[in-house]
Amino acid sequence: MDNKASEIKKDSEDGSAKTALQETLTGSKQSALQKYQSIVVGRPGLWHLLIYELFTTLLGPLPGALGLVLRKKFYPMLFGKVGRNVVFGRSLTIRHPHKITLGDNCIIDDYAVLDAKGQSNKGITMGNNVMLGRNSVLSCKNGDLLIGDNVNIAMNCFLQSAATVSIGKDTLLSAYCYLIGGGDHKTERTDIPIMAQGQIVRGITIGDDCLLGAGVYIQDGVKIGKGVVIGTGAVVTKEISEHTVAVGIPAKVVKNRKTI
Ligand SMILES: CC(C)(COP(=O)(O)OP(=O)(O)OC[C@H]1O[C@@H](n2cnc3c(N)ncnc32)[C@H](O)[C@@H]1OP(=O)(O)O)[C@@H](O)C(=O)NCCC(=O)NCCS
Repeated sequence: MDNKASEIKKDSEDGSAKTALQETLTGSKQSALQKYQSIVVGRPGLWHLLIYELFTTLLGPLPGALGLVLRKKFYPMLFGKVGRNVVFGRSLTIRHPHKITLGDNCIIDDYAVLDAKGQSNKGITMGNNVMLGRNSVLSCKNGDLLIGDNVNIAMNCFLQSAATVSIGKDTLLSAYCYLIGGGDHKTERTDIPIMAQGQIVRGITIGDDCLLGAGVYIQDGVKIGKGVVIGTGAVVTKEISEHTVAVGIPAKVVKNRKTI
């Protein structure tokens, strides 16, 4: 887990109930185009705006083999770094692509979201042979997402990171998993809205060779050791030690894989 993980407190600047995105959209004195460019493209300059618009508008929704071929050829120009033989599905949502690194042979399936947004983060880093399933969302909330080699993230997963969320190599996330890497709202006060009280952000670490069953929720601050299996529908609230099987809400260890 990253050093920031201890506790970073975030408070709304004016104490009002607005998210950071709302603050940027409604609070700043930038023009609409400047706001769009800072939220979506992530870099100033006409060139970056133009190629982003051109590629995502013309190639993004293009179906079939032609879409795959053209995106494979041109999309790497948007990203920080893209390895060999990377497949980009159709209608992806891409934010701050210059902060996204993809290794060799990665597959980003249709309708996935790669959102590396943030003012001071490094963004999203994927190793080699990573599969990101259809409709799954990688969302940086000014944090970082580190995904190891051979990780398979099935469809409809949601990974958010306000600190650092890391997934070790060879790990499988089944469909509908949710990694809540930050976003724990402070709730001590009742005189102002919860949304205005700020957040405590820690981060999540998942070891190598883990299996998260379908619909698993991992809460912020959790560390999962190497070789862990988490049962379908579990909510993991605390550290799970390596080579164990944990199930339920809250998740409890029911087996040790080395002594079965
Ligand atoms: C966790 C899991 C791996 C355990 O399998 P197992 O090692 O064969 O263990 P068992 O079936 O003997 O279960 C051990 C205990 O945990 C309970 N248990 C198993 N899975 C559970 C779950 N998801 N939630 C709550 N309890 C569960 C069992 O009822 C049993 O309890 P008991 O000892 O009181 O009877 C398996 O149940 C599971 O959830 N696998 C994930 C499947 C999945 O989501 N795949 C996604 C598609 S790839």
